[in-house]
Amino acid sequence: MNPVTYAVEDDLAIVTIDHPPVNAMSLSVRDGLAQAIEAATADGMHQGIVRCNGRTFVAGGDISEFGHPPQEPHLPDVYQHLEDSPITWLAAMHGTVLGGGFELAMACDFRIATANTRFGLPEVTLGLVPGAGGTQRLPRLLGKDIKGMELAIDLCCSGRMISASELLETGGLDAIVSESLDNEAKAFFESPTAENAPVAVSKRSMASVPADFFSTQKEKVLKAARGATAPLDNLEAIEWATRTDFAQGQPLERQRHLTLRNSDQSVALRHAFFAQRSVAKPAAIKDATAHSFHTIAIVGGGLMGSGIATSCLLAGLGVRMIEVNPDTGLQNIDKLLQGAVKRGKLDNDSYQSVLSRFTCSDDYRIAAECDIAIEAVFEDLSVKQQVFAKLAQHMGDDAIIATNTSYLNPLDIAQSIDNPARIVGLHFFSPAHVMKLLEIVRTPNTSADVLATSFALAKKLKKTGVLAGICDGFIGNRMLAAYRRQADYLLADGAYPEQIDSAMRSYGMPMGPYELQDLTGLQIGYANRKRLAPARDPSERYIPIADQLCELERFGQRSGAGWYLYEEGSRKPVTDPKVNDLINRYSELQGITRKSFDDSDIQQRMIAILANEGERILEEKIAERALDIDMVKIHGYGFPRWRGGPMHAASQAGDSSIKEALHRVTTQSPGSWTLAKKYL
Ligand code: COA
Repeated sequence: MNPVTYAVEDDLAIVTIDHPPVNAMSLSVRDGLAQAIEAATADGMHQGIVRCNGRTFVAGGDISEFGHPPQEPHLPDVYQHLEDSPITWLAAMHGTVLGGGFELAMACDFRIATANTRFGLPEVTLGLVPGAGGTQRLPRLLGKDIKGMELAIDLCCSGRMISASELLETGGLDAIVSESLDNEAKAFFESPTAENAPVAVSKRSMASVPADFFSTQKEKVLKAARGATAPLDNLEAIEWATRTDFAQGQPLERQRHLTLRNSDQSVALRHAFFAQRSVAKPAAIKDATAHSFHTIAIVGGGLMGSGIATSCLLAGLGVRMIEVNPDTGLQNIDKLLQGAVKRGKLDNDSYQSVLSRFTCSDDYRIAAECDIAIEAVFEDLSVKQQVFAKLAQHMGDDAIIATNTSYLNPLDIAQSIDNPARIVGLHFFSPAHVMKLLEIVRTPNTSADVLATSFALAKKLKKTGVLAGICDGFIGNRMLAAYRRQADYLLADGAYPEQIDSAMRSYGMPMGPYELQDLTGLQIGYANRKRLAPARDPSERYIPIADQLCELERFGQRSGAGWYLYEEGSRKPVTDPKVNDLINRYSELQGITRKSFDDSDIQQRMIAILANEGERILEEKIAERALDIDMVKIHGYGFPRWRGGPMHAASQAGDSSIKEALHRVTTQSPGSWTLAKKYL
C-alpha cells in the first residue's frame, strides 16, 4: 500500500502520510511524497496541506536505512521540490515533529500544530547532522535575532525538543490549533495570514552575528559534548548557513550527513537507539501479561527506600511506606519532593496532591492492598528474610514481592515464601529518584507475568529496565567489580589513581574508577570484599590498597579523604602524596618493579576486561543479549552512549584487538582472570 495519498478537498491538495508506527521517511514515503507533489502540481493546485495519520507527524528519517547506501529519491531533493512547487503548502502537525519531519515542515510555507506537539532535530543524538536542510533552514526560520540564532544552535547541537508554544513565540510556527487539526488547517487558508505566502524559509536572511559568536558557541558546545563529536559538526553546519546561501550550504550539510552515517560514533548511537527499544522486550516476557498496579509498598525509608518511593509518587502511583521511624520516612520523602519542586519536576500545586498518595507507618498492615512491595532495608540476609515473611503475611497471594538487594541472592531472601513465582529482584541505583537504570532480577521461579509487570513498572517510572539473572553483583556491579580489580592491578604495577581516572575520562567516562569510589564511598566495597574473601580463588591477585584506605578511615569524599583529598566543602579531588606513597610501598613489598602505562594501554585493558566479563555474563545466561549489558552500563554507570556500551565498543574494536589486550591483562596478573570462551 502506498503510504502517501493525495486527494483534493475544497480546492485544497491534501497529502496524507500514513506509515506506522511513527511516519518515518522511509524510501516508500519519500517516493510517495514526491509523486503526490508532482500530481498536485500537474492538477494546477494552488494550496495544499501536508498531514499525517496516526500518533504523530513525521518523526524523522528512517534510522534503519542509515546503515545502507542512500536510495533515490533523496530527502533533500523531495523537500526542495516541495518548496519550489507553485503550491502554497501548510504543514498541519501533531505528536513529535522530529528530524526529517521538522525539515519537511520547514520546507512548507506555513506551519500549524496542536498545542501538545513537540519539535526537534535529534540527529545529533544519533551522531549525525540533519540531511535534508535542517541546519540550513532552522537558523533562517528562527534566527531573526541573536536569541533565535542561539536557539537554533541549541536545538541542533543538543537535540532537545521544544514545545509548540515556544516555537510559536520564536516565529517558527504560524498558529497553534485547539480544535480539529484538519478543520483548522483548511480554515487557515481563509485567514488573513494565508493571503500572502511568506518568502520560502531557505531564502530568508538571518541576523548577522558578532565576530566571536561561533568561537564562544564552540566552547559551550564542546563542554556539553563530553567526547561526542556530532554537536560540533552541527555547529559547523550552522556556521555554513551564516556564510553561504542555502544552495551552497545544503549540499555541504548533506555530504557531512552521509559521511557521518558511517562514523563509529553514529553506528554506536544508532545501536544505542535500537537497544533502548529492544531492552524492554526480552524473550523471557514474550506472550506474558503484565498485572495492573496502582499502589506500591516500600519497606525502609532510608536513602534508597525514599528515593524509590519518590520515583513512584512522581509517576502517579500510591505509596505505602513501612518504616520503623515513620517520621524519618515522611521527612525524607518531603525533602526529596521539595527537591523535585526546586528542580522544576513538580509544581507547588501538585506537591500536596502527590503527598496525599503517600502513607508511612511502622505497621505492615498498610501493605495489605498493595500490588507490589519492594524491600529496601539494609543488606542483611536475616533482616530481609523477616521483611519478606511479614510482607507475605499481610499482602494478597498474588502480590509481587521484590527485593532491592545489590548483592544478596533473592532466592535466599525468599526461602520461606509460598508461591515463589511472585518473587523478583528490583535493583534500583542510588539516588533512585534520579538514576535511570533498574535491574530486574529473575529467580529460576519468577513467572513471566511478574517479569512483564516489572518491566511495566520500570516504564511507568521512566526507567530503563534490564533483565538480569542471579550472580554476585548481577550485571552492573559484577562488571564494575572486574573493572575496579583491573584498575587496582594497574595501580599496583605502575599507574596512579589520577592517571587511571584521567585515561578513563578521556575515553568518555564521566569519572574515573577512583574518583567514583570516593564519590560513592569506599565502605560498601570494603564490606563486600570481606564478604567474598573466604570464597576468593587464592591464585587471584588481591590488591589491599582500598582496604588500607578504609582502615585509615579514608572512606571517600564524605570523610574528606579517600583515594584523593577533599578540602572542606569541596568535591574537587586533590592528589594526595600519601596515597601514592601507600601504592609505592605496596609495590615495593611485593617486589614489583613499577612500569609506566600510557593512556591508551590503560583504556584498552579496562575495556577488554569489561568485554570479557560481559561475555562471561552472556555465557552464564545472566544476561539474554549483549545489548542488555550495554544498556546497564550506559544507564547505570555513565558509559558514554556514543561508544554504544562496552559490548558494542568491543565489537567495534574487533575480537583480535580485545584478545590482544586480554593477553596483556592475563600476563600482567596470571591466575587472576577467567577468560570467556570467545576470547580463549
Ligand atoms: N526510524 C526508524 N524507526 C523508528 C524511528 C525512526 N526515525 N523512530 C521510531 N522508530 C521505531 C522504533 O524503533 C520503535 O520500533 P519497535 O516498535 O520495533 O521497537 C517504534 O518506531 C516506536 O518508537 P518508540 O520510540 O518506541 O515510540 P515512542 O512513542 O516512545 O517515541 C518517538 C516516539 C518518535 C519520540 C521516538 O521513537 C523517537 O525519538 N524517534 C527517533 C526520532 C529521530 O531521531 N528522528 C531523527 C532521525 S534522523
